[in-house]
Amino acid sequence: MALLELHGVRAGYGIGPDIITDISLEVEEGGTYCIIGPNGAGKSTLLKTIAGLIPPREGSILFEGNEIGGRRPDQILTAGVCFVPQDRTLFPEMSVRENLVMGGYLVRDREVLEERMAFVLGLFPLLAERSSQMAQTMSGGEQQMLALGRALMIEPRLMMIDEPSLGIAPQVSDQIFDTIGHLSTDLGITVLLIEQNVKKGIEVSEWAFVLDLGTKRFEAPADVILDDPRIRDLYLGKLAAAAKEESS
Ligand SMILES: Nc1ncnc2c1ncn2[C@@H]1O[C@H](COP(=O)(O)OP(=O)(O)OP(=O)(O)O)[C@@H](O)[C@H]1O
Ligand SMILES: [Mg+2]
Repeated sequence: MALLELHGVRAGYGIGPDIITDISLEVEEGGTYCIIGPNGAGKSTLLKTIAGLIPPREGSILFEGNEIGGRRPDQILTAGVCFVPQDRTLFPEMSVRENLVMGGYLVRDREVLEERMAFVLGLFPLLAERSSQMAQTMSGGEQQMLALGRALMIEPRLMMIDEPSLGIAPQVSDQIFDTIGHLSTDLGITVLLIEQNVKKGIEVSEWAFVLDLGTKRFEAPADVILDDPRIRDLYLGKLAAAAKEESS
């Protein structure tokens, strides 16, 4: 049984049109998966649907064989699925430590909460050094580390991360990708990642799902995907269309 299975998932916002249609995919426990595709393909919408932020209109989402489609975000989080959104959504006027405590708000036991906190601070020594610094005064890279650390407070089984390197200096993003690699290899956490920088994304992944126009076009092992002519068509096609639009 796969850890996560989607069958024919369709979703959209409010009363608006469908944004993703008929998406089926499987994620095996312990793997690292990357979702790639052009802007507006529906990548973030897919993760928001799995996280319960928008309900699927059709299809099923199974986590460890149980239907989570249509459940509330806190119930999905409790099941072990966490989501680090593109905008990171930290509490800007709270300290690093307070943000981590908020990440563990579902943990009732104080001792367990302290253990998790120690674990996360051990994983990110920089956060330990800055534990009383206000989140909004940290750099983009530091905020991304805090967002990852906060998600780890619930000991997730599946960590979904939307564009971790967005707006971050290259050296810092290397560090963040190292940490993401570490999540699956050393901690056994399954990772489902969206990354604009396709090369970077597939470097840390074993498998890639390619989305376009709200649906899964194809999937392939990460190490061969860049050579796939369909990838070239997908991105070059968009670039050519954009260039044409600009010149007209
Ligand atoms: N909150 C929302 N309400 C209505 N439409 C939305 C909302 N968020 C996204 N959309 C629309 O859904 C479509 C897919 O957006 P989505 O953010 O899922 O794409 P993406 O693949 O993550 O793109 P990017 O690479 O730019 O992050 C877009 O047309 C977008 O305008
Ligand atoms: Mg997005």
